[in-house]
Amino acid sequence: MEEISIANHWDKAYLNSSEDQLGWFENDFSPSFRLINQCNLDSNDAVLLVGSGSSRLPDELLSNGLSELWVSEISEVALQEVKTRLGERINYRLGDILSSETLEGVPSVKLWFDRAVMHFFMEEKEQTSYFQNLKEKVRLGSYVIFAEFHLSGADKCSGLSVFRYDEKIYQERLGEEFILLDSFIHSYFMPSGQERPYIYALFQRKDS
Ligand SMILES: C[S@@+](CC[C@H](N)C(=O)[O-])C[C@H]1O[C@@H](n2cnc3c(N)ncnc32)[C@H](O)[C@@H]1O
Repeated sequence: MEEISIANHWDKAYLNSSEDQLGWFENDFSPSFRLINQCNLDSNDAVLLVGSGSSRLPDELLSNGLSELWVSEISEVALQEVKTRLGERINYRLGDILSSETLEGVPSVKLWFDRAVMHFFMEEKEQTSYFQNLKEKVRLGSYVIFAEFHLSGADKCSGLSVFRYDEKIYQERLGEEFILLDSFIHSYFMPSGQERPYIYALFQRKDS
């Protein structure tokens, strides 16, 4: 899909559904915080939430004292929802996460966080761009959290095909310069009641 039609797809998803009916809506952030809490973040450490949609995770991170938050989104509709809630308390980037231009001006981050975004990148070249962009922003000693559909799960999300993961595939993509610190499968239940197993994992980039 072209960038414009991807953006349209997601804009429609956010326009056509209330926040709590989205197939990825969550109000229990404990699986994420199990991993975030292991990063020992200082209040002014930069954190980037890629493809964060209308998620309330940035609100939770602000409540937990983090102040250097960046969210990136391809959907202007989703980004506007978050802007309406949080205004100038956080930083925003509109655009495709596969384009390095989207992240221009974003500092190196202590934590790169991705829930249910990377799994939409089916093509090898998309995955290559994604990991290039990630490695440019994640400093030595910094952290990456992924939460994508697990190998045992569904092969579509929001009507789009997904590339499913386990912690070994994450590791292969990141390379040996990243160390796996923790991983677990979390069964998420959609508002429709359907079960979606996600594979959560925390990696740290080696210091040298
Ligand atoms: C399934 S939703 C997950 C949203 C959020 N991460 C969460 O956990 O609630 C996928 C999100 O990724 C965004 N997205 C999809 N492709 C993207 C891309 N190429 N660049 C940036 N964001 C993208 C969509 O707009 C959507 O908000």
